[in-house]
Amino acid sequence: MGTRAAPLSLGECDGDGIRCGYHGLKFDEAGNCVEIPGQTQIPPGATVRAYPTVQRWNMVWIWMGDPAQADDSTIPEYFWLDDTKWKAATGYIPMQGNYQLLVDNLLDFTHVTYLHKKTLSADPEEAKVPVKVDRGERSIAVSRWIFNHEAPPLFAKAGSFEGKVDRWQTTTWLAPSTLAFDVGCARADTGAVDGDRSQGISIWSTHLITPETDTTTHYNWAYVRDFALDDDNMTNIMHDGAKATFEEDVEMIEAQQERLGSISFDGLIDINADNPPLQMRRIMEELIARESTIQ
Ligand SMILES: [Fe+2]
Repeated sequence: MGTRAAPLSLGECDGDGIRCGYHGLKFDEAGNCVEIPGQTQIPPGATVRAYPTVQRWNMVWIWMGDPAQADDSTIPEYFWLDDTKWKAATGYIPMQGNYQLLVDNLLDFTHVTYLHKKTLSADPEEAKVPVKVDRGERSIAVSRWIFNHEAPPLFAKAGSFEGKVDRWQTTTWLAPSTLAFDVGCARADTGAVDGDRSQGISIWSTHLITPETDTTTHYNWAYVRDFALDDDNMTNIMHDGAKATFEEDVEMIEAQQERLGSISFDGLIDINADNPPLQMRRIMEELIARESTIQ
């Protein structure tokens, strides 16, 4: 807060500090007020809370818990966001929903067939392909291969594939709320499953999710490719395709959130596809409980 409850987010950066957009008070990086226009005396207690941050991979990573517990080794290795061998199309969606609903969505591949039939795929066979789930202490990876299949429209266009492809999808969630999808396809039977992707294209679909309140979330995404790096038209195709897809997710999540105002998850039935999201919620409950006892 700045003066009179004015949010500092409506202010501006000034050197190493932030200047309030209402009465011009300036706060330094530790949160202390260092300047009040029109007076020399700075009242004691004129401070705002400061958070540890690190700039890495073209992002600012913020730690909102106990500053003593901040550990930058937990920042994911998202090198493709800041690497000349990769090209990113990026976007931001302010979402009226809890952040975990979005993580649920991204850990569940079966929704693609039904929610993204206009953008990604409408093939009901894909929803039946089993996934492999690997659980870590603060991570979950969900993966699957679809062999000898049609390329999805966006990939067919981007990779100029003729005929069938082998297609891979792996998503890794890292607590609390970042996910990276390693997705792509290669001409069928050219060895992609053994690691040779020379006949294919790859995309890191990256989801950087910042909870704001219980029911609102900052959703930043990046769609990062390893082909046609200097082709601005390809960047636009990737951007518009990803944006349309992720807006379909957000529309459904906002509708869920609206209904969850009156019903709870406790009364809902679970299906097999809910397994990774339920594991994610269990890990988060454990981490939150552990951190609460530390503080
Ligand atoms: Fe989706």
